[in-house]
Amino acid sequence: MKKFFGILLATVIAASTLAGCAAPAAAPAAPAAAPAASAEAAAPEASGDASLADKKVGVCIYQFADNFMTLFRTELESYLISLGFSKENITITDGANDQATQTNQIQNFITQGVDVLIINPVNSSSAATITDMVLEAGIPLVYINREPDADEEKRWADNNWDVTYVGCDARQSGTMQGEIIVDLGLDAVDFNGNGKVDYIMIEGDPENVDAKYRTEFSIKALTDAGLEVACLDDQVGMWQQSEGERLVTNALGAHPETEVVFCNNDAMALGALQAIQAAGRKVGEDIYLVGVDALTEACEFVISGEMTGTVFNDHIAQSHGAADAAVNYITGAGNEHYIGCDYVKVTSENAQAILDSLK
Ligand code: BGC
Repeated sequence: MKKFFGILLATVIAASTLAGCAAPAAAPAAPAAAPAASAEAAAPEASGDASLADKKVGVCIYQFADNFMTLFRTELESYLISLGFSKENITITDGANDQATQTNQIQNFITQGVDVLIINPVNSSSAATITDMVLEAGIPLVYINREPDADEEKRWADNNWDVTYVGCDARQSGTMQGEIIVDLGLDAVDFNGNGKVDYIMIEGDPENVDAKYRTEFSIKALTDAGLEVACLDDQVGMWQQSEGERLVTNALGAHPETEVVFCNNDAMALGALQAIQAAGRKVGEDIYLVGVDALTEACEFVISGEMTGTVFNDHIAQSHGAADAAVNYITGAGNEHYIGCDYVKVTSENAQAILDSLK
């Protein structure tokens, strides 16, 4: 086993010198915080509670121009309204992927005296500063989508602050991406017969730990299943479709032997699919493609066979979990400091069911 890892590491390091591929970690780090409750578990009993009608909610989104966060914030707003908040008391701001802009928005919310803040930080590394600012103003805080690091989460627990994180564990989504490929079997994947899974990786913005974990754990699922891997290219596509297309066009040009394209999200996978088609390749016949999120378009491509699979990033459970946590702070019920949820593997077998469940 040690020898196998040695060879694997040598292969990956050799590839990374050429293409910037990272070696998969041999042993996963401990979870930043153990999921203490499911996103649905702490749902407040009140529905359409009149006492919430005059409560003000500030929501900061890292960037409106993000397919997944658009689904998230749309669902968040309608669910908050269904709980009893008034539409005019819910303000959602676009951080435009700039932390200084978002910090100003947070300051404005503090000045306005909102009752609770829900924040999707631009830079998760700025979380400590954000937490201090918001807590000093006596406002409870719910982080979403970009998980602050373990040290920051520990401060909330140690000081029993009204701060929590609502989200799914990205390691699970990476593992599921890898399993989708493992389940095909090496014979089906190894088109060039070199005994390895030759892949390219398109990563999201490193400011979201989801990018790191999906990159690492998708490949770990392959190596854990005993497959040998070769990373042909590893690039950062910032979660964007246009970047996915550009990077995969280049990667396929340089590495026509690519057998699998892993994308950290579906937006980039949709771009990758355009590149795959433009290169005259066909998913399922001479290449495989997996994403994460289960965007409607991606599920439709999974059904038609143009994408191999994706992983449902449950924006419904996460947005509801965040809204429920906000209510629990307002009512004084309080929350655990980590509210988790599960990803769901999506293949042609259940893609339609996932789409139906989202209607
Ligand atoms: C989603 C991406 C999204 C990112 C934003 C991730 O969890 O999978 O689609 O762009 O969050 O931070």
